[in-house]
Amino acid sequence: MKLLVLNGPNLNFLGIREKGIYGTENYDSLVERLMAKAAREGHELEVFQSNYEGALIDKIQEAYHTGVEGIVINPGAFTHYSYALHDALASVEIPKVEVHISNVHKREAFRHVSVTAPACTGQIVGLGLKGYEMALDFLTGK
Ligand code: DQA
Repeated sequence: MKLLVLNGPNLNFLGIREKGIYGTENYDSLVERLMAKAAREGHELEVFQSNYEGALIDKIQEAYHTGVEGIVINPGAFTHYSYALHDALASVEIPKVEVHISNVHKREAFRHVSVTAPACTGQIVGLGLKGYEMALDFLTGK
């Protein structure tokens, strides 16, 4: 399958930012792990991160044109207020899983709302970086 993992703002700072919340594994190591998993299982995977809302929207639209069959997205803080990202996700009929590393429901009230989740197939929250792998397994039917 052709798969896409999208990460929003500040996720490139994994291993640097708020380690008590997001852990000590850095972003490159996460990307390597996901790429290795996809290769091992015979899937084509692109992992993309941006701190810019428009770049993530462009990537979702590109996924439509290039025949991506499954999207994993951690929109970072855009989760809580980006209607533009919601609309981009809703525009494409591709299975989509929203992932949050931390348990957003245990944190500040503004994190309890996801405006992007209603445009996704499902959501994985609070299971750490493992959530990305679980999302890929769901999309590939593993
Ligand atoms: C996050 C949770 C968001 O509230 C936060 O803004 C992030 C990361 C998570 O993966 O737990 O940047 O999406």
